[in-house]
Amino acid sequence: MSNESIVKKFFTSYQLHDYLGMHNCLDQNVKFSDFAFDISGDEVKAMWRWFCMRYPPRELPIEVPAFEIIKSEGEVILAKYRVVYLYGDDQRPVDYWIRARFVIKNDKIVEQKDSFKDISSIEFAKMAFGFPASILAYTPLFQWIVKKAAAKKLNQFMTEVVLKDPQAAITDAVLANSLKEQEHKGPNLRQVHSKSHGLVSGKFIVEEYLSDERCKVGVFATPKEYKIWVRFSNGSSPKALGIFKPDTEGDARGMAIKLKNVEGNKVASDEEDTQDFTLINHHVFFLPDVAGYIDFGEFRKAMEGGEKLDPVLAQKLAPTLAILKEMSSKVIGNPLSIQYWSTTPYKLGSNFIKFSVKPHDLETVTITNPDPDSRSQNYLREAIVSHLTNERKEIVLDFLVQFFVDESKTPIENPMKEWTQEDSPFIKIATIIIPAQEFDNDERKQLDASLSFTPWHTLPEHQPVGSVNLARRKIYQEIAKARREA
Ligand code: HEM
Repeated sequence: MSNESIVKKFFTSYQLHDYLGMHNCLDQNVKFSDFAFDISGDEVKAMWRWFCMRYPPRELPIEVPAFEIIKSEGEVILAKYRVVYLYGDDQRPVDYWIRARFVIKNDKIVEQKDSFKDISSIEFAKMAFGFPASILAYTPLFQWIVKKAAAKKLNQFMTEVVLKDPQAAITDAVLANSLKEQEHKGPNLRQVHSKSHGLVSGKFIVEEYLSDERCKVGVFATPKEYKIWVRFSNGSSPKALGIFKPDTEGDARGMAIKLKNVEGNKVASDEEDTQDFTLINHHVFFLPDVAGYIDFGEFRKAMEGGEKLDPVLAQKLAPTLAILKEMSSKVIGNPLSIQYWSTTPYKLGSNFIKFSVKPHDLETVTITNPDPDSRSQNYLREAIVSHLTNERKEIVLDFLVQFFVDESKTPIENPMKEWTQEDSPFIKIATIIIPAQEFDNDERKQLDASLSFTPWHTLPEHQPVGSVNLARRKIYQEIAKARREA
């Protein structure tokens, strides 16, 4: 990547309030100075993050309506950029251009010096502090006070936001990117798993004789039958606004189950009587933790923009890409005929488990158009319609769990690592029956669009665990809220 394009990427990310994109352009020991700061390394990263966020007293992030490269000379790039924001505790509106001098080494910004462009320090002080204070703008004491106040604020931000909860900060970053993508590709749709193959009704029957006592907890405590909704989906986001990827292209396939009329207090407060289970048709997830989403986002952006991938990032993502390749190369005949896995772990009372759903008897599933070349864009919905509606056949699936053994065999973190059946065999604890039905109609599609499935619609006994699951709490809630309000 040229030095100029690194600076452009830096500003484009700033415009999108994508501080992780900005961080990616910075060297680990980057130095930054301007009228308020003289900082380096993590402090610089924290400062950009602060500027990209709503952090009191500032109600909104700093806006960067324009930027321009003025000159490019070897490792030095001169640029200017306009900033619009509310300054200080009094929240005074400021709007001005900054002249920025960047030094780039090994594709990273190692130094950035900002100064006012087209305005003097006095004019800036007038905007930021009002007339009386601006008279003092040239005095060393005034400059010392400004620097001291800025350092204090940055310190506070680092203590309250950055150091306190890196998981939360990364989750916020993933959420911000997801909301942006949702807004562009389908504001009223799920940001991923957007394309549904059908929302069907069914029954979830807890086994009468559970031989393993550890299983008798939460919804599995006593033999019982729950009414359920099951939603089958493709994993990807829309290709563009209103355009879904055809089913004939490789993708992860999702299965989301919602048990109804489940008694007991739930972890999330938005649904009082449901227990959800979400699964995909692969035994492992493609990311080790939520932070992996940031790297993966960078990868996707580079691919979509036709850019060359940073070799270090490419190496880091190699295992992720291998899993995605495996996932998307599976050709399936019918979403009813395949096995699904939770991939991430959950509590089962005082134990930890992963769960899986698999057809009880594969022979009974209808595969329409067995010849892959003759399949339509929506053949997966058509296959479910053929089975449940046209042929009036039910489908029976087994709900299975696998218990945690130890951290090396069955790690709680890193859902890229399989819990093998040799280390922890699956135990059947419930049966799912999806009866023959008509579901391919507008009314059901509307209900499908309105529902929200999340692992956090749960009894505490089945609470999700691990970094990936933790992040899903806020992300699913906010994405569902955004699409419902769109
Ligand atoms: C940090 C990791 C993850 C993120 C950021 C993420 C993000 C999302 C989002 C935004 C939705 C749409 C929610 C809605 O609009 O209601 C969704 C749906 C879904 N996700 Fe995830 N997900 C993650 C991990 C997983 C994992 C590990 C699984 C594995 C089973 C999974 C399976 C599903 C399924 C099946 C759906 C569709 C639910 C439905 O039909 O409504 N996700 N995910």
